[in-house]
Order: sequence, then C-alpha cells, then structure tokens
Amino acid sequence: MYINRLNLKGKIAVIVGGSQGIGLAAAQALSEFGATTVLAANNAATGGAAVEHLNALGHPASFLEVDVSDPDAIADLMATVAAKHGRIDILVNSAGVACHGSSLDLPNGEWQRILDVNLSGAFWAAREAARQMLKTGGGSIVNVGSISGLIANIPQNQTAYNASKAGVHLVTKSLASEFSGSNIRVNAVAPGYVETELTRGGIDDPDWFPIWRQKTPLGRVAQVEEIASVIHFLASDAASYMTGSIVVVDGGYTAI
Ligand SMILES: NC(=O)c1ccc[n+]([C@@H]2O[C@H](COP(=O)([O-])OP(=O)(O)OC[C@H]3O[C@@H](n4cnc5c(N)ncnc54)[C@H](O)[C@@H]3O)[C@@H](O)[C@H]2O)c1
Repeated sequence: MYINRLNLKGKIAVIVGGSQGIGLAAAQALSEFGATTVLAANNAATGGAAVEHLNALGHPASFLEVDVSDPDAIADLMATVAAKHGRIDILVNSAGVACHGSSLDLPNGEWQRILDVNLSGAFWAAREAARQMLKTGGGSIVNVGSISGLIANIPQNQTAYNASKAGVHLVTKSLASEFSGSNIRVNAVAPGYVETELTRGGIDDPDWFPIWRQKTPLGRVAQVEEIASVIHFLASDAASYMTGSIVVVDGGYTAI
C-alpha cells in the first residue's frame, strides 16, 4: 500500500529549530503520520508553546533547549534523545538565522554567526544524529536549505546567508554519499520565500515584497505547511530511493 510508505508510526524524530516556523510545521506533519517528536531550539519559551500546541492536537512531543552552533551541546542532545527513546530515526535540521545588508559593512562576527548556526549547526546535528542512527540500522535526515543556496535572490543583500545555504546543500550531498552504505538517507528541501518570523521584515517592506512576489511565478509566498509536506515526504519511506537530493519548493522562483 502506497499510504504505508508515508506512515511514521513508531519513529522518533528530532527537529532542530522545531520551536516555530517551518520546523514546528514539520513536527506537526511528522506527528500526524505517527512519529514521536523531540523539538530542539534555542528559545525555551516558544519551545514550550510548540509542545503545548502539538500535545493539544493529541501528539506526543517534548522540547530540549540547545544552541545548534555548539557541537558538544548537540552531541549531548542526540545522546539524550537516544537514551530516552531508544533510537533516532529522523532528523530535520531547520534552525536558521539571517542578516541583511552590504557585505562591505558586514561585521566579521555576523558572518561567523550565520555560518556557525546555519552551516556548522546543520553539520553538527547531522553528524551526531547519524552516530545514533548507525546504532539502530539507519535513518533519514532532512536539511532545510534555501533557494538562496542556488541563486543570489534580490533585492536584499545577504551574502553570508546565501553562502551558508550553499554549504548546507553540499553537506547534504557529501553526507548522502558518505552514509550511503549505512542506510542513512540525507536530503534537503530548498524553499523559496515562506511566511515566518524570519521573513516578516521583508514581507512588510514595500521595497522588497513586490519584487519577491513579482519574481515568484505563483505570485505569493509559501505557507509553512507547503514546506512541511515535502519534509515529511523526504523523511518517509515514500522517498526511499532519494538521497543527496536538493528539492526546490519555491513557487517557481528559480524556474524563470
Ligand atoms: N522563511 C523562509 O522564507 C525560508 C526560506 C528558505 C529557507 N528557510 C530556512 O528555513 C529554516 C527555518 O526558518 P523559519 O523561516 O521557520 O524561521 P524561524 O525564525 O521561524 O525559525 C527558526 C528556528 O531556528 C531556531 N534557531 C535559531 N538559531 C538557533 C540556534 N543558534 N540554536 C538552535 N536553534 C536556533 C529558532 O529557535 C527557531 O526555532 C531556516 O534554516 C531558514 O534559513 C526559510
């Protein structure tokens, strides 16, 4: 039955950056197909609210506070989840930060912060989750990249963010190759503009939003569930022949 290939009953899923936005929507999608979710992020207040939201829908979920840019903290996180639940089957890497402005004015520390969270964080989390997955026979990792890892979208300048997401795409392909013999699939979703806290400023900006919309053939930004559905698909057995793929979900932005 094809529907069984989407089923996640009994699976343990860690969603880094799961306290809000795309990560929380992914947690809900995975939950609705039967997974038990562990949300991890750097904001305990929204993490608690996210767990309450999932619990109110009848889904088991918990939250652990972590800074994804700290490799030791991420190793502890994955070991803690595996000790409590016995395994990790799915990792979604959705933690992310952005900054905008002229590269000439970019403080050195800002460049480093964006790379530390978006790129190094995705690698630490994937590596530490993979260590746990190897103990139980495999798993599925879904990184959240971006169209900004494929093209330099305009009008905003965001060189650090773009570089970090291009790096996430190559980490995805590299780990897919490295773990191909270990039954660990590694894929990425590359969204276009999605309505979240991350894009609130741009959506409200009269100089940016008309350009975003004009350059998107579907003529609108995405809602989080439109990305979460693809994350669920990639995490599930329905995508069993996919690894190393960067799946673009952008309303056509990069098609023209
Ligand atoms: N919104 C978009 O248009 C869009 C487009 C393409 C890609 N993305 C990517 O999607 C992912 C999710 O973004 P979103 O739009 O849901 O944004 P969001 O701001 O709503 O959520 C970001 C999440 O990352 C977590 N986070 C940030 N820094 C962290 C850190 N140091 N340690 C642990 N957690 C941290 C936050 O707590 C939050 O849970 C990001 O990787 C982002 O780059 C977003």
